[in-house]
Formats: sequence, C-alpha cells, structure tokens
Amino acid sequence: MKKQKDFSVLISQQEIAEIITRLGTELTDFYQDIERELIVVGLLRGSFIFMADLIRAIDVPLVVDFMTVSSYGDGTVSSGDVKVVMDLDSSIEGRDVLLVEDIVDTGRTFSKVVRMLKNRNPNSVRICSFLSKPSAHKVPINIDFCGRVVGDEFVIGYGLDYAQKYRELPYVGIWEE
Ligand code: PRP
Repeated sequence: MKKQKDFSVLISQQEIAEIITRLGTELTDFYQDIERELIVVGLLRGSFIFMADLIRAIDVPLVVDFMTVSSYGDGTVSSGDVKVVMDLDSSIEGRDVLLVEDIVDTGRTFSKVVRMLKNRNPNSVRICSFLSKPSAHKVPINIDFCGRVVGDEFVIGYGLDYAQKYRELPYVGIWEE
C-alpha cells in the first residue's frame, strides 16, 4: 500500500507533550489528597492514545477502566441517544471518577455519560478532554480539564479518526480530501 499522505499540522508532537505536562500537573494538584485510587475512565475508541499519555503524567494513585458508548448508530447525525456498548468493569460507587475524552464536539456524549455515571453514586465525576470545539457545542458542558480549544476544522490524529483512519498520526492534523 502507498504511504499515507501528509496533512497540515494543527497541533505538533511538541505542543501535545506540553499539553500533557500541564494537564498532568493540574490533575495531580487537584487530586493530591484523594483517599482511594482515582478511577480514570476512557471513552473508546478516540481517547486511548491521549489517556495512555495522560495517566503517565498524573502523580496520584489511580486505576483505569473503559467504556464504549454509541450515539450515532449507523447514521452520521447524532440521535442524541447514548447507548452503552461496553460498560465499566467495576463499581464507581463512592469513588472519584475522571472521565477522559479526545474531543468534545456537540457535548452530547459527555453530558449523557456524566448523567449516567452520576446515577451510580460516585463521590465525584470530573471531565478531561484533550480538545474542545466550542463552535459545535449544542448542550451546556463544563469541561473541568481541557487540553486545547480548536476551531471548526475537522481534526484527525492522536486518537481522532476520519472513518476509523488516521488515529495513529503522532500529531493532530486537519483532514482534507
Ligand atoms: C467522537 C469523539 C467523542 C464524541 C464527541 O466519538 O471521540 O467521543 O464523538 O462528540 P459529541 O461531543 O458530539 O458527542 P465517535 O462517536 O466518533 O467514536 P470514536 O471515539 O470511536 O472515534
């Protein structure tokens, strides 16, 4: 197969490293007095690369878990109905949960998942997203820890896909045909 084409770089590897270091410091400060391990929950699939870097930058005891939700079914327009495809492995009751995403677009996924998790009586649920696209937000959403704001462009790489491709790019690029 031919080598994949280069995309224009929006966020370089160097900038990603700086974002990770900053978020790691913020999260370490925020959770420094935590009594039991922080439960870091990644929403698959987009969050897996960001989450791998992030947990190595947080200096408090933690455990990881994953959840897969589907909000789009087979279509491209959000149905607004979030279904759990793969649930957490363990209980979050009484625990501190950090929910990790690659991007908050409309905000529907995060707001539904936060509501779902809060029904399980955790001690706290906070959210951390690598990217936020405010121009696309459709529901009010408070991102507790945000890596970077982006504009309207369609972004790929560092976990983010276009039709499941390009997640492996080490930088965030702008998708173009
Ligand atoms: C993307 C992204 C977020 C969600 C954000 O996931 O990873 O989970 O959409 O969109 P929202 O703010 O409009 O709800 P996608 O459904 O593409 O799955 P993926 O994580 O497998 O890429």
